[in-house]
Amino acid sequence: MKKLKTLAVMAMGIGLLVGCFPKASEVIRSLPVENKKQILAKYSPEQIETGETLFANNCAKCHKLKAAEGHTPEQWNSILKRMIPKAKLNDEDGQLVRAYIIVNAKQ
Ligand code: HEC
Repeated sequence: MKKLKTLAVMAMGIGLLVGCFPKASEVIRSLPVENKKQILAKYSPEQIETGETLFANNCAKCHKLKAAEGHTPEQWNSILKRMIPKAKLNDEDGQLVRAYIIVNAKQ
C-alpha cells in the first residue's frame, strides 16, 4: 500500500515536470531576435553578470562550454531555444543566460 502511494506521488511529480517544461520554454521560444544594443538597454550589468555565472554552471553539463563568440546573435537565438530548455533553466534565468550570450556573441 505504501509502495503504491510512493508510485502515485512519483507519477504526479513526473506529470508536473512534463507539464511545466514546454510552458517554460514557450516564453523563451517566443522571444524576438535582439541585438547587443537592445539587450544592453533591457538588462543591467549585474543581470548580465548573473547570466554569465548561470551559463558557466548550466551549459557545460552535456558538452564543453560553447563560447558566446562562436555564433552570431541570430544563430544563438535558434540554438538557445533548444538549449535553455535542455539546461532546465526557468524563464528568468534563461533570459539572463541569453542576455549574456548575445552581448558577447560574434558581431
Ligand atoms: C541536456 C544536455 C545539454 C545541455 C544542458 C546543454 N546542451 Fe547544448 N547541446 C546538447 C546536444 C546534445 C547538442 C548537439 C545536438 C544539437 O545541436 O541539438 C548541443 C549543441 C549545442 C551547440 C551547438 C549547436 C549548433 O547548432 O552548432 C551549442 C552552441 C550549445 N549546445 C550551447 C548550449 C548552451 C548555451 C547551453 C546552456 C543554456 C547548453 N548548450 C546546454 C546538449 C545540451
